Amino acid sequence: MTLINGKEIATVLKQEIADEVAQIVASGKKAPHLAAILVGHDGGSETYVAAKVKACEMVGFGSTLIRFEDTVTQEELLQSIRGLNEDPSIDGFIVQLPLPKHISEEKVIEAIDPKKDVDGFHPVNVGRVVAGMPAFVSATPFGIMELLRRYKIETKGKSCAVIGRSNIVGRPMSILLSQKGVDCTVTLCHSRTKNLKEICLQSDIIVAALGMPEFLTGDMVKEGAVVIDVGTTRVTSDQTKSGFKLKGDVKFDEVAPKCSYITPVPGGVGPMTIASLLYNTLLSNKHQIYK
Ligand code: GUN
Repeated sequence: MTLINGKEIATVLKQEIADEVAQIVASGKKAPHLAAILVGHDGGSETYVAAKVKACEMVGFGSTLIRFEDTVTQEELLQSIRGLNEDPSIDGFIVQLPLPKHISEEKVIEAIDPKKDVDGFHPVNVGRVVAGMPAFVSATPFGIMELLRRYKIETKGKSCAVIGRSNIVGRPMSILLSQKGVDCTVTLCHSRTKNLKEICLQSDIIVAALGMPEFLTGDMVKEGAVVIDVGTTRVTSDQTKSGFKLKGDVKFDEVAPKCSYITPVPGGVGPMTIASLLYNTLLSNKHQIYK
């Protein structure tokens, strides 16, 4: 069994990005600049956004953090988005989700200029991914594809179960895995799937992205399978300084001995997500998606 070291691969990817930024700056051009909008004080969102800003600094990007209280109106938020759309110094920006209930995430995402949508959440980018066109790909699925590629994991003709159909992970994952050149045969499973265990047992690759801690158990996985764990449920813990611990969607101790490759939580998919966001921002700076 090989443990997929997402932390290490993310460090390599971030170093590659930092090297490119150094070249861009040395040639007299502007360093990439990522902005993030954070609404309210959700603990998870605070942690993720702080990590994104810190990652920007580490690779030489500029960064801007725009904060709103959770009483902000939808119109105020949309105004801020329009400002970032028009600001030539900003290469890309994200609005950290979830948003307070009185704000429509759909309206907010639609207001982002697809050319600056480095999260890849805008329907134009989602549609371009489906059509096999250059697009900003959602960071988590992009990070997973990068892990498969860098570990040289064979995908051609392999059967793959993706568990979970979220717009951010499961659905785009199913599209990327079935793309020409990747060539998996994908089954997209969800809460209404009847024979999930049988489907998983027949799968060469399983991507668990449903957000239920330790859902995938040893009896659901065939010998030699590749298992990618996207779960990041925060559970309270008295063993960590923060008082929280991340739990994956895979019962690691049972599943790992059966696998050819598996991602741990933490240190698997998670670190790749931020590296992928930086990569999208670099692509935006170089006008490589929208020419
Ligand atoms: N909330 C959880 N994950 C993400 C993400 O990748 N991007 C944004 N904008 N919000 C999130």
